[in-house]
Amino acid sequence: MSETKFRLIARKIEERIEQGEYPTHSKLPPHRIMADVLETTPTTIAKAYNLLADKGRVESFVGRGTFVKPANDVDPAPSLAEQGFDFSITQPYLPENLPFIKKAMEKVSRNLNLQQLTYIEHSGLDAHRQAAVEWAKRYGLEGGNTDNTLLTHGVQHSLSLLLTLLTSEGDCVAVEAQTYPGMIALGELLGRRLVGVKMDEQGMTPQSLKQVIAEHAPKVVIATPSFQNPTGATMSVERRQQIAQVVEDHQLWLIEDDAFGFLNPQPVAAISNFIPQRACHLTSLSKALSPSLNCGFLKAPLSLIEKVNAHLRANVYLSSSVGHATACELIKTGDAFKLASGQRELAQARQAIARQVLNLASIHTGGYHIWLPLGSQTQAHWLVEQARKQNIYLRAGDQFTVSEPAQHCVRLSLMSVSSESKLTQGLVMLNTLLDSLRTSAIAS
Ligand SMILES: Cc1ncc(COP(=O)(O)O)c(C=O)c1O
Repeated sequence: MSETKFRLIARKIEERIEQGEYPTHSKLPPHRIMADVLETTPTTIAKAYNLLADKGRVESFVGRGTFVKPANDVDPAPSLAEQGFDFSITQPYLPENLPFIKKAMEKVSRNLNLQQLTYIEHSGLDAHRQAAVEWAKRYGLEGGNTDNTLLTHGVQHSLSLLLTLLTSEGDCVAVEAQTYPGMIALGELLGRRLVGVKMDEQGMTPQSLKQVIAEHAPKVVIATPSFQNPTGATMSVERRQQIAQVVEDHQLWLIEDDAFGFLNPQPVAAISNFIPQRACHLTSLSKALSPSLNCGFLKAPLSLIEKVNAHLRANVYLSSSVGHATACELIKTGDAFKLASGQRELAQARQAIARQVLNLASIHTGGYHIWLPLGSQTQAHWLVEQARKQNIYLRAGDQFTVSEPAQHCVRLSLMSVSSESKLTQGLVMLNTLLDSLRTSAIAS
C-alpha cells in the first residue's frame, strides 16, 4: 500500500468530520463499510484510522469501534485568513504536524532539566547539534558534525548572521533574480546590494553568475538549490557542481539556503558538498514541521566556525534550548522525518490538483508553490486585488524581484489552505478570475 494512499484517505475522513458528516462522539463506520464509501481497501482504512488516532482526531476502543474526539482537543479556531483561502503563506500543512509536535513538547516538558535551562557553552547541547547533523545529512549534506554545526533560530537568522559576518555595508551579494521577500528585506536592512542572477528551470545559471561576478564583484553568492521560492526550480547535481565550481574559481563564499531540501523525493547532494571549505549550509524545521519551533541549523567551514559562533553569541547569546530539545526529540524518534515525507506527499497531491484546476500542463511547478505567469504586471496586480475581494490571498511577482524587470507572475502557496476541498474551491474561484482576465481588456 502506498504511503500516500492512507494519508489521503485519512485527510478525506478528517474533512468529513470537519464538515459535520461524522459529528463529535459519533462512531465512524467499520473498516469494510468506510472502505466501500471511499473506494479503497479495509487495510487502508485501518491505517488511516490509526493515523487519525495518533493525531488525536479519533479514539479507538477494542470491540467498540472508532469514535470522533471533540475538535477543541485538536485544533484552535481558524485564523481570519483561514476562513478565506490563504495562498500567501509558505508553511507546512500544520494540522498534520500539530499532534506530533504536542507529543514531543509534552515529553520535553516532563523531562525538562536544569541543563536545558542554563546558558550553555558553544551553540547548544551536543545532543541537539547531533540531531541537527542527522537532519541535514538525511537530505543530502555531507561532512556535518557537532564541531562544524551551530544551532540558530531559523534560516533567516542564519542568513542575517552570515551576511553580517562575510560582507560590509554597500557590498554586493549575488542572489537568484527572483527570491523570497525575507532575503530582499534583509539586504535592505543591512544595506547590502543584492544583484540578481538569471535563472532557468534549474535555478541560477552558471553563465549568469559568472557575468554578475565580472560586473559587480560580489563577496557572497546565495543559492537555493531545491524547490526555490518562488519559482519552484530545483538544481540537478550537475548544476550544483557547476555553481560550486564558479564559487571556487572566484574564491567567493557560498551560502546555501536549503530550507526545502526535504522535499526532494530522494536526497540530492548539497552544493556545499563540492566546496566544503567555501560554503555555509543552512536549513531549518520551519517548512517541514513548523516555523514556530524556531529551529535552524548552520554548517560552516571550520575556518569560519568560531567567528560565526561569536556572531551568534553577540546576537542571541543562545538559541532556545527548549525549542531545540523539541526538535531533537522529533528527530530522534523519527517523527520529524515521517512528517517531512507526509508534507512532501501532500505537496505533490496539491500540485496535481492545482495543475488540473488551473490547466498548467505546460508550466514547470514543484514543491509548495505555483509561480503562475500572466500577461503583465498590471494583470498580476489586478488578479491579487480581485482575489482579495473574494477572501483569496496571494502575492504579486514584483515582491520577489531583485533585478528589474519583474516577471509577470503571481505566487500561490499551496500548503496553508486548510483542506483539499477548500484548496480546490479556492483554485476554481481563481480560475474564473483568470478566465475573465483572458477575455478582458486589462493590459497584457
Ligand atoms: C527560501 C527560504 N529561505 C528561508 C526562509 C525562512 O526560513 P526560517 O523560518 O527557517 O527562517 C524561507 C521562508 O519562507 C524561505 O522561503
